[in-house]
Amino acid sequence: MNGARSATAVAHPNIALAKYWGKRAGEGNVPAVPSLSVTLAGMSTTTSVTFDETLVDDELVLGGAMAVGRPKARASELLDRVRAAAGIATRARVVSTNDFPTASGLASSASGFAALALASVRAAGLDWRADEVADLARRSSASAARSVFGGFVELDGGDGATGAARPVAAAHALDMRVLVCVTTEEAKATSSTDGMRATQATSPYWAAWLADAPQSHAAIRAALLAGDFARVGELAERSALAMHACAMAAGIVYFSPATIAALAEVRATRALGLPAYATIDAGPHLKCLVKAGDAAVVRGRLASVPGVLRILEATPGEGARVVTAEAP
Ligand code: DP6
Repeated sequence: MNGARSATAVAHPNIALAKYWGKRAGEGNVPAVPSLSVTLAGMSTTTSVTFDETLVDDELVLGGAMAVGRPKARASELLDRVRAAAGIATRARVVSTNDFPTASGLASSASGFAALALASVRAAGLDWRADEVADLARRSSASAARSVFGGFVELDGGDGATGAARPVAAAHALDMRVLVCVTTEEAKATSSTDGMRATQATSPYWAAWLADAPQSHAAIRAALLAGDFARVGELAERSALAMHACAMAAGIVYFSPATIAALAEVRATRALGLPAYATIDAGPHLKCLVKAGDAAVVRGRLASVPGVLRILEATPGEGARVVTAEAP
């Protein structure tokens, strides 16, 4: 094995402005539609991977607790791909921590698999480019491919797409803050993967989503590149509501009363002339997109919404990076 045996990487969650919902048929966890997100600063996952000849099995320690079952199997699947590429059979110890609440509705799987992909590639001594690391991360959780890069990032999807992730604009391209309205401390009831599966299998609106999402992605991309915050916000809210409408028609409901109350408050704020927009992922938390100068006043309004427990504020930030790499 060449190079490092141990590496630590840091990655951040991302919030999709153009939502990924649904998978293309076939291998590789390639999305059915293109998506576009913003990587967030201020909240981090830090993951260390050590390939250790003395281990008989991979070990995964998540937030100080030994993980078993599906979370461990998903980490081992990623490590198996890295081992195959590096031509090694050595098992690894993975230690991962989040400095934000995992139930905050910020996709911890995105930052988690981005950090795990980068740390394990580097620890295995592979000299991969960011797009290769993103391809590996996508196979575990598609949104994780976007967290490999900083700023505004898109992920290909749909017929003929390879599921490649690439940066579209730098973090400072748009004056934007994300207010994460935490509405429950519980983990989500239906995972994104299961929600997508049900939507594709039974939503009467699946074909409409497939037809609309690429246009929506292209319009968001154009508005972003034009620096038009209000248009990005408007289209992002529309993308989220279209995704949820399609999922709801399959019986998959992520909204709680607090989600609806916060959405109403975002819209009331907008009616007063303040540009504030909502986006919601596979959980009841609402994320509000605002300009930096409006963040404090909008935050104050959302804090008084019944059911909003607390608010985290994030700015666009950096992609995944290696913080330490060591040979034995
Ligand atoms: C609603 O990336 O968690 O957050 O690929 O099955 O792991 P898997 O799904 P995941 O889905 C994220 C869905 C979303 C929208 C988005 O982030 O684009």
